[in-house]
Amino acid sequence: MNASLPFATDLSIRPEVVAFFDEPTNTISYIVRDPASTACAVIDSVMDIDYAAGRITYDGADKIIAFIKEKGWTLEWLIETHVHADHLSAAPYIQQKLGGKLGIGENITIVQDTFGKIFNEGTEFQRDGSQFDQLFSDGDRYKIGNLTAHVMHTPGHTPACMTHVIGNAAFVGDTLFMPDGGSARADFPGGDARTLYRSIQRVLALPRETRLFMCHDYGPNGRDIQWETSVGDEIDYNIHVGHGTSEDEFVKMREERDATLAMPKLIIPSLQVNMRAGQLPPEDEKGGTFFKVPVNKL
Ligand SMILES: [Fe+2]
Repeated sequence: MNASLPFATDLSIRPEVVAFFDEPTNTISYIVRDPASTACAVIDSVMDIDYAAGRITYDGADKIIAFIKEKGWTLEWLIETHVHADHLSAAPYIQQKLGGKLGIGENITIVQDTFGKIFNEGTEFQRDGSQFDQLFSDGDRYKIGNLTAHVMHTPGHTPACMTHVIGNAAFVGDTLFMPDGGSARADFPGGDARTLYRSIQRVLALPRETRLFMCHDYGPNGRDIQWETSVGDEIDYNIHVGHGTSEDEFVKMREERDATLAMPKLIIPSLQVNMRAGQLPPEDEKGGTFFKVPVNKL
C-alpha cells in the first residue's frame, strides 16, 4: 500500500463509466457501474437553469434517468464530489425518480456554515450536513454492487472536496483538470492553494495507470472537450503540477492566477441549492421560491 493512500488500490477492477457533458456549465456527470451487476452510481449531476429568467428544468438529469432505466440498472448512490459553485446539482431530482443514497464529504458542514452566514440563512437552515444521506470521511468505503469505492479527502478547491476511487477509476472533482487545463481555482471561501497542491499529490500517488475523470473541461486552445486522463499523464504533462512543479511554485502560480478570475456566472444560485444537497431554498410565506443575491459579500 502506498503510504499516502488510505487504502490498497486494485487496477484489475474496471468499472464501466458513462459520461454526460453539460455544455452550458462545462460539467461532466458520470454513471459508474459495476460490470458484474446492475448496480450503479451517479456522480455530479446537473440541474439546468436559465438564471436570467429564474427558470429551472431537468433536461440533463432526465437523460441520465432515461439511460439508467433503459439499461435496467439500479441506482445505489448519488455522489457529489464537492459543493459546486458553477452549476446546480440535480441529485435530489434523480433520487426521487430512481432511489439511491446521496453522499458528500463531511466538511460540507464547514461550507454550510460559511455560506449560511453569507446568505443570512436562519436557524431553519441546518449546518450539520443532515440534508445528505451520507457524510464521508477520509478513508471511508462504500459499495456499488460488488465494487468497493474508496473516499479520499482532497481539499483545497473547497474544504469538502473528495476524490472517489473505484477500481482503476478515480473521480477527482475539481482537484485536477486535464493536463492542458491544469488545476481548479483555490480562492473560494475555505479554499487554499497549498492545501490543493497537497491534495493533488495524493491523487498523483495513485498508480500511474489509474484512469482519472474530470468534473470540468473547457477545451483549452480550441481542442475538443475531454474528460478522461491518467495519473501518469497528469504527472508528466499537467501544466500546473506536472514535471515536478514544487509546492511553492504552484502556490505562487495559483494565487496570482486566481486573483484575475471573475466569479462563476452561477455561483449565487449554485451555492444556495448545493449547500442544501440540491434542494431549492424553501418557499417564503407567500408560497414563492426565490434566490438571494448578497450584495458585496462574495
Ligand atoms: Fe468546483
